[in-house]
Amino acid sequence: GGRVSDVIDWSELRHAAALAREHAYAPYSHYKVGAALLDTSGRIHAGANVENASYGLCLCAERSAFGRAISDGVTAFRAIFVLTQGEAPGTPCGMCRQVLAELAPSIPVRCETVGGARLDTSVAALLPFAFDAEKLK
Ligand code: THU
Repeated sequence: GGRVSDVIDWSELRHAAALAREHAYAPYSHYKVGAALLDTSGRIHAGANVENASYGLCLCAERSAFGRAISDGVTAFRAIFVLTQGEAPGTPCGMCRQVLAELAPSIPVRCETVGGARLDTSVAALLPFAFDAEKLK
């Protein structure tokens, strides 16, 4: 840390998350979410939530963003920004925390509402004692 190149441009991530959020497919909950993943090359991979009439199939914005990144051949990440509506920032669900622990275990996580309420946290704080591949050995 400390170098200029290490500084995260959160406003750029917020912008990308906001654009993706506009495309959220959330006709059931009407809770639109946008997520923006920053990779270690400085590129941004954004995702929106995708709901389904079979409610249990809903895909969160965070996993949607990982799907885009992985599909583009990107596996090293630097930060994630999650944008929601509501009074308090929405935090990644349990399933998304497990995916974060697998693919980006040590990145900072910033959650914000459209109105500007903010929560800064980390994957380690969101999912302590995560089950991971080490345990499979
Ligand atoms: N959702 C996300 O996309 N990310 C979160 O962090 C929390 C929940 C979505 C799933 C569903 O489409 C809607 O928000 C309501 O749960």
